Amino acid sequence: MIEPGSGFDHQEGIFMNVTEALNSRYSTRAFKPDPVDKETILNILEAATRAPSWGNTQPWEIFVAGGEVLDRLRKAYIENFRKCVPGKPDLPASQQWPPALQKRMEEFVGKRFNSLGIKRDDKVARQAILEVNYRFFDAPVVIYLCMDRTLTNWPLFDIGMLAQSIMLAARQYGLGSIPAYMLAIYPDVIRAELEIPDDLSIIIGVALGYSDTEHPQNKLKASRRPIREVARFKGF
Ligand SMILES: Cc1cc2nc3c(=O)[nH]c(=O)nc-3n(C[C@H](O)[C@H](O)[C@H](O)COP(=O)(O)O)c2cc1C
Repeated sequence: MIEPGSGFDHQEGIFMNVTEALNSRYSTRAFKPDPVDKETILNILEAATRAPSWGNTQPWEIFVAGGEVLDRLRKAYIENFRKCVPGKPDLPASQQWPPALQKRMEEFVGKRFNSLGIKRDDKVARQAILEVNYRFFDAPVVIYLCMDRTLTNWPLFDIGMLAQSIMLAARQYGLGSIPAYMLAIYPDVIRAELEIPDDLSIIIGVALGYSDTEHPQNKLKASRRPIREVARFKGF
């Protein structure tokens, strides 16, 4: 663990304040093949598990896939994708969104395809972009976040905070990441390969690695709603 003032080795990481880490994080959808060493991942996880949790219950169980294990997972995912095997995630996706959120999602997807030069009706190109999810964005590492099957809302909130903490801690090492529902859509495949017990739900995968910053997939910075519209102040 990196202690404050411990003379952190610059070759192993980048000094970065929290705002810089927040602003420089984005969902990486194209990774370089360069590996990430186990010590770095352990440092990131050790820092990230300082995340708060309900009553310090620390509901998370973490499974990290790399090397040949991840290659096998990736192969199985691509096979499933090509055979159109429907996903059956432990935590299903919401089917309906309030209209304002649905609109934002559609706008984001539209901008993404635009930035990649893909036309709305180009099904082949759209499928190719979708397949990138099943290739785990070519990441060298995927971190799966799990929790006991009986748990619901609040522990899920804790898992969310852990996920963001991992992604921010990763920035200090110059690493990119993406939290992706798609990485967890075939839980049976993941469970078998990573020996995840049946009593754990696989919530989400966070792909980790060095971003290919020149890749078109990484060029679009997702916008945000203006903070003065999002935040309402009273008594100031
Ligand atoms: C819970 C969750 C699931 C996500 N799943 C996917 C996914 O399956 N595939 C994908 O390309 N991006 C996925 N994303 C990334 C979002 O699209 C992304 O966070 C959002 O567009 C904002 O962009 P940014 O992360 O680059 O700031 C997911 C994000 C979250 C928080």
